[in-house]
Amino acid sequence: MKNINPTQTQAWKELEEHFKEVGQFHMRDLFREDPGRADKFSIEWEDFYVDFSKNRFDQKAQSLLLKLAEECGLEEAIDSYFKGDAINRTENRAVLHTALRSLPDAEVMVGAENVIPEVESVKKKIKEFTDEVISGARKGHTGKAFTDVVNIGIGGSDLGPTMVTDCLTFYQNHLNLHFISNVDGDHVHEKIKNLNPETTLFVIVSKTFTTLETLSNATTVRNWFLRSAPEEVVAKHFVAVSTNLEKVQDFGIAPENIFPMWDWVGGRFSLWSAVGLSVSLAIGYENYAALLEGGRKMDEHFRNSSFKKNIPVQLAMLSIWYNNFFDAETEAVIPYSQYLELFPTYLQQAIMESNGKSTDRNGDPVNYQTGTIIWGEPGTNSQHAFFQLIHQGTKLIPADFIGFKKSLFGDQSHQDKLMANYFAQTEALMNGKTEEQVVEELKAKKFSSEEIDRIKNFKIFEGNKPTNTIFVEKLTPESLGKLIALYEHKIFVQGVIWNIFSYDQWGVELGKQLANKIISEFESKDFENHDSSTKKLLSLYKN
Ligand code: F6P
Repeated sequence: MKNINPTQTQAWKELEEHFKEVGQFHMRDLFREDPGRADKFSIEWEDFYVDFSKNRFDQKAQSLLLKLAEECGLEEAIDSYFKGDAINRTENRAVLHTALRSLPDAEVMVGAENVIPEVESVKKKIKEFTDEVISGARKGHTGKAFTDVVNIGIGGSDLGPTMVTDCLTFYQNHLNLHFISNVDGDHVHEKIKNLNPETTLFVIVSKTFTTLETLSNATTVRNWFLRSAPEEVVAKHFVAVSTNLEKVQDFGIAPENIFPMWDWVGGRFSLWSAVGLSVSLAIGYENYAALLEGGRKMDEHFRNSSFKKNIPVQLAMLSIWYNNFFDAETEAVIPYSQYLELFPTYLQQAIMESNGKSTDRNGDPVNYQTGTIIWGEPGTNSQHAFFQLIHQGTKLIPADFIGFKKSLFGDQSHQDKLMANYFAQTEALMNGKTEEQVVEELKAKKFSSEEIDRIKNFKIFEGNKPTNTIFVEKLTPESLGKLIALYEHKIFVQGVIWNIFSYDQWGVELGKQLANKIISEFESKDFENHDSSTKKLLSLYKN
């Protein structure tokens, strides 16, 4: 991959110049001047319609952003990514979650080995295991079928499975899924208090099998299980997903109950691997395979479409436009589906752990902004919470609005109300409300001119707030797979342009190391080696 400071490119300089002009435009005028704007800035692909016309940019800005992508070597970077080059150079690893959703006859080389046959054999194992648990053929130690599945993991070993399972609740079978992640003992005890150990299956998910939270929770759960069952039946109730086969076996899990994964799958991109076992159990293997197929289709789209008609590329470059030229610091993701409640939370890890970096690929500090802050909640709830600030606050917050044409239960009356809000919000954010409109409205309500003068400024909406509308036919396992892969590729594009390594996460190490040190100090109660603030807090806690 190229190693280019984006701010030194010709396109960046031209964008800076052009920004001075575009920064002043109001989108209202852009739409008035060009009736074909929506067609120009939208992409129709499969069951997706992505409208990015409600953005503060024009064709020149679009061309310059795509020129920036070219100058930064995006095309060859995409090639390296899919080919399995070790693009995660700080850990010397390939980044191949895309291989997990490839067709069975694909060839993806890691070093000298085609990894697809191994990927397929793990998929087969997931399918067989899933079918046995769902049908009841696989039973607990007292001969009863499983009713509950508990996924124990954290970060990428939790967020992906939790989010997908929750998003696809509609497609769930009779198994009850539970997720234990936080090392907070109240969390684990709350989750297990009503479970029946005879009918519960535990899936321990940890790529490294060294993570404090997961090992502590797994040990607590195992001890709880052993209160009512002998040691030799642990194998019937505990399975694991990990790269660390030795440590899993040390924990007492039978080798045939280990689902392997590989170091070329990053934690936050791992739901496509056996980390998705809980998803498969929850919705059945066919639906799980459809999720993977959705991811694969988005891979094809990303790999083969021109940048101009490429959804991840367009969304990534627009995000760079706001982050680096408008100085926007955050982006909101607002799904108009309650099912997608956890989607923004999932994206927080994917995006912020990947692109929250300040060292470029030379090892030098960057002199420009990188990763955006992601947040969001479903509409319409969020309209009654934080939308006030997006509409009338002082900050520029570009937002993605995700919505589905069809509801799953088919209640059209509710769907119409939900979607009316979905469309109304992006229109309101774009148009705003002018002083003239406010005055007209108040006059119609018979306000006196004195009253109008007093109140009108509070009722003006500046508008010109950018949004992308991601409009999808229906929430299905496949469309969710496409949506997740869309954002994964957006992350990749942004990492390429910002010239950073998106696939390590050294930033989470320091806190972990310090926590381990403090845990050992709790024994001795010797907190002398800390600053005065931390020392006092530790003493208050322990003494
Ligand atoms: O938060 C850091 C991290 O390394 C994530 O990237 C990862 O998903 C998570 O910890 C859990 O790690 P593991 O799967 O090894 O337990």
